[in-house]
Amino acid sequence: MSVQDEPLDTIGVIGAGAMGAGIAQAALTAGLRVIMHDSSAAALAKARGEIHSRIARLAEKGQITAAAASEAEGRLTLAERLQELAPAQIVIEAIVEQLEPKQRLFTALEDIVSPATVLATNTSSLPVAAIARVCRHRDRVCGLHFFNPVPLMRLVEVIRATDTSERALARALALAERLGKTAVKVRDVPGFLVNLLGRAYITEALHIQHEGVAPVATIDRIMREAAGFRMGPFELMDLTGIDVNLPATRVVYEGFQHDPRLKTTALHESLFAAGQLGRKTGRGFYEYGEGKAASPSEDDSPGAAPAGAQLSAWVAEGAQGFEFLAEHGVRLVAKDQAEMILVRPAPGEDAASAAARLRLEPARVVAVDFLAADKGFLTLMPPVGGGAAARRLAAFLRGAGVAVAVVGDSPAFVAPRILAMVVNLACEVAQLGIGTPEDIDIAMRLAQNYPRGPFEWGEWLGAERVHDTLRRMQEITGSDRYRPSLWLRRRALLALPLRAPP
Ligand code: NAI
Repeated sequence: MSVQDEPLDTIGVIGAGAMGAGIAQAALTAGLRVIMHDSSAAALAKARGEIHSRIARLAEKGQITAAAASEAEGRLTLAERLQELAPAQIVIEAIVEQLEPKQRLFTALEDIVSPATVLATNTSSLPVAAIARVCRHRDRVCGLHFFNPVPLMRLVEVIRATDTSERALARALALAERLGKTAVKVRDVPGFLVNLLGRAYITEALHIQHEGVAPVATIDRIMREAAGFRMGPFELMDLTGIDVNLPATRVVYEGFQHDPRLKTTALHESLFAAGQLGRKTGRGFYEYGEGKAASPSEDDSPGAAPAGAQLSAWVAEGAQGFEFLAEHGVRLVAKDQAEMILVRPAPGEDAASAAARLRLEPARVVAVDFLAADKGFLTLMPPVGGGAAARRLAAFLRGAGVAVAVVGDSPAFVAPRILAMVVNLACEVAQLGIGTPEDIDIAMRLAQNYPRGPFEWGEWLGAERVHDTLRRMQEITGSDRYRPSLWLRRRALLALPLRAPP
């Protein structure tokens, strides 16, 4: 019998917490029978109650019929004893995130289920191979990594460990499809795809904050308004909880042998140590609660200049983009008539380097990022020794209806810098064969709501530009955090599409 023809009508779910209950619900509404076990009878009863009320709500909203709802609930069996899992064709483990209990469970399961049963773990941070290690039939063990809340999140990562068989993988993929999920195949590496790739967005924002480039609210606003992300990196960390994203960052950083690209900053560690875990504790990167803005969107930039104000500037280098300023009332004049000097730095260059390279007087220099000019959003950046000119230009442009953020000096401003890191890490993940460019894009769109997948961002920005940005950042900062992935370098040098296979 081919794998496609093997019956798939009964699954086991072990652990009836947030994830187990979600997986069970998704399977029940997809027409599967579910045998759910938890070592705590109270947890089982609670999960049944939650599943009941969530399925009832689906029926109330007309998403399923009342008959389908009661049939779905009828397919759920609560198992107080592990032995009752014997009929399961696939078992998904979602118990406590610790290696030994998971290993004990998998050892016990092998004595209960049929030799054909696939054993899947929903672990987020343990190597699947470490769980499989204790099994007699390691080839049947794989990862099935769901996202919370399971019924709503469309992505599932299917993890292939060293010994996972094609058959086990095919069974896991068939189950994901049956549940209406989009599955991506991932190698068994720390963080898998989503938790690994997600490090770029948050840790680069943390490094920008760490360098004093901008407060968190400004960085968040730029990533939302200029780059179109649904949430800024700090809002996102406060929402997921610093007790979740700091350990995830540590696992990935340790697992990849301290690759500086994956490193976080002291602030992240100290919020964790202080128990300031984000929304759940009322305080993280932001403060929440009475009288506090739940998501402060305003930064410390100046207000708008009065109507009728005038401003003259000289463009020191390049012309591209500056027409936007002229259209919004900035008079572009010769050097000796100008109040300020505008530059569009080379990719990855900071304002100080641009001013030094062009031999400009820093007090009058303003570097301009036109990345989001089509959205009516500009980022301005003075070099050290400047500032007044940038604030004046910001006030003038706000008076003309442009959204403006002013940030301290940074190689590649804020959005191009974070995006370069998102693209670079995705390239590295493809280079290491952890996932394909297509799967990487799907995973980050579905699990993290990215407005573009990392490879789509790379193609939108241009591989050469991203590569130049990183090389210059590496040179300016002296940090290998910014070293370009070989995947990116080769495609940029040869002008090949960023997704070109090896
Ligand atoms: P949870 O704490 O809500 O639920 C865990 C359940 O497992 C509890 O009901 C507990 O009584 C039960 N349990 C513990 N040890 C057991 C054992 N030896 N045998 C049977 N039942 C046992 O945890 P949650 O959040 O549902 O996570 C479960 C797993 O899913 C973990 O491995 C976690 O890393 C992973 N995961 C969690 C995500 C999340 O967002 N919460 C996302 C993706 C994966």
